[in-house]
Amino acid sequence: MSNKKIGILTSGGDCGGLNAAIRSIFYRAKNKYNMDVYGIRDGTAGFIKRPVDAVQLTHKTFGGYLLRQGGTFLGSTNKGNPFKFPTKDGKHVDKSKEIIEGYHSMKLDGLVIIGGDGSMQILKKLAKDGGMKIVAIPKTIDNDVGATESSIGFHTAVDVATQALDNLQSTAASHRRSMILEVMGRDAGHIALNAGIAGGADIILIPEIRYSINGIIKKLNSMKKNDIQHSLIIVAEAVKKEDGSRVLHKYIDGEQRLGGIGDHIAKELMKKTDVECRVTTLGHVQRGAPPTATDRILASAFGVYAVDLLNQKKFDRMVAWNNRRVVDVPIDEGIKTYKNVERKDSLVETALSLDIYLGDNI
Ligand code: F6P
Repeated sequence: MSNKKIGILTSGGDCGGLNAAIRSIFYRAKNKYNMDVYGIRDGTAGFIKRPVDAVQLTHKTFGGYLLRQGGTFLGSTNKGNPFKFPTKDGKHVDKSKEIIEGYHSMKLDGLVIIGGDGSMQILKKLAKDGGMKIVAIPKTIDNDVGATESSIGFHTAVDVATQALDNLQSTAASHRRSMILEVMGRDAGHIALNAGIAGGADIILIPEIRYSINGIIKKLNSMKKNDIQHSLIIVAEAVKKEDGSRVLHKYIDGEQRLGGIGDHIAKELMKKTDVECRVTTLGHVQRGAPPTATDRILASAFGVYAVDLLNQKKFDRMVAWNNRRVVDVPIDEGIKTYKNVERKDSLVETALSLDIYLGDNI
């Protein structure tokens, strides 16, 4: 009888720890179950190509530095929902059938998908429509998949942002400036809140809690009274202006991404005070950095468990980190249980106790 054959794809924005997860999936599949393992290139886009764009993984693939490297060596995409795939002439076509055909052409016994809630939603629908046997591993630097305490990539992003605050502290003090650090986090403020606490921020702005420029000024004035003339402000990219509008950066190809709230806050503060501000936008440094130990460990544990699920034919499940161990939940639950920062979260209370300004009247 021939070996079982499984596929792996990474989908959505990349992050630290994806290569560690792929490595772990390969080791478990090969060493324990003698499965043949194929990496699909560029997420679902690999299934659209003919022949399917896939590479067989071997022990040699992982002989080098991959465990330590950010991003995903298989490639990924966070553009183009396959059900409404953008064409060059600005129209949209449904590519789902091609993906399903591509999947079946490989005669896979299962597919591990590593993605965030958006990717899981798409792949869940593809799997349902096309009889694809999938299990999911959650990854997102935003850490907003509620069914798992941690998703791959989050710790690395927090670590990068914390190091940035460490580096900004000295220059803030040298010049008596307010250094504003803008971090990622599309809808949730977990990165800003965690890094802000770890990196000693004086002000943390997250989309879940309303702030005011006057509130920030009050905080800076109270620091001045204690003879502290410099400060660190961390702001999540999804924080809105006081009037409720989002700050977006429009690229020349028409793509729009969050970005620029740091500059906006700096402008407002410099208009109303004599505080000198400087802004650092971390951007994709948070995604491409070498994964932290925690992310490598989480990714490795998820990979092993995901392969065990495939081997037991337990499809349509998402692995999750819960109470110091890996568990599994239906993918639907992974998608449904969105988690942003809530007032009752311990870290909110922690930040407040550390005298950090988070917003008004909280
Ligand atoms: O959702 C993950 C994320 O990194 C967000 O925090 C950020 O807004 C977005 O992706 C950036 O996407 P892109 O890689 O397309 O610039």
